[in-house]
Amino acid sequence: MSVALGILISGHGSNLQALIDACSDDNFPANIAIVISNNFNAYGLKRAAKANIPTKVVNHNCFGSREQYDDKLAEILEGAGVELICLAGFMRILSKTFVDRWKNRIINVHPSLLPAFKGLNVHQRVIDAGVRFSGCTIHYVRSELDSGPIIVQSVVPVAFNDTPDTLSAKVLETEHRCYPIAVRLIAERRINMHEESLVIEGVGIPDHTMINPNSF
Ligand code: GAR
Repeated sequence: MSVALGILISGHGSNLQALIDACSDDNFPANIAIVISNNFNAYGLKRAAKANIPTKVVNHNCFGSREQYDDKLAEILEGAGVELICLAGFMRILSKTFVDRWKNRIINVHPSLLPAFKGLNVHQRVIDAGVRFSGCTIHYVRSELDSGPIIVQSVVPVAFNDTPDTLSAKVLETEHRCYPIAVRLIAERRINMHEESLVIEGVGIPDHTMINPNSF
């Protein structure tokens, strides 16, 4: 059984590429049904086209409200038979209606150790705060910004001479490893939700990846 993914992007699409690469392995339990971008110029659209994945651009400027935009997204995702939505650098807030409708079927990657450093401009704020560790988080999406049950996190040390660009490169590298792990855990039905916490069954998590301690 292969789970159909719908991947939402806005830009470079390096996390999309990590998922394309993962899905190219016959043993990976998911496939990418569609890639949707709100931005016509997103480089990720080229990555999808190169991998023969259907793409759609849904320009937010053409819709009167967030709900109307999200209804269009839902129509396309449902039409493509999507079972799990992966936000991969999708720089739009989704309406509560949409998020509730797809509850526990939307996941997101964020470039910090949530719940720390929600929002934008993360790496500059991490450096300004002087914290010694940052990282990435893959989590289920809830309607509050960058919140929801945490599936996978990975830690990246912050060097004294890091800039937002150097830190971003290190964190992105871990995002690319963590995102396919989270998708695999979901597709293999190894995640059991209990209200707002979750339990992950089984082993096989690489050492560099930390599972939310509350999971056990
Ligand atoms: C990634 O670092 C992702 O964590 C971040 O945008 C970047 C997208 O890169 N997402 C957010 O900040 C969402 N809150 P990509 O387009 O190369 O995958």
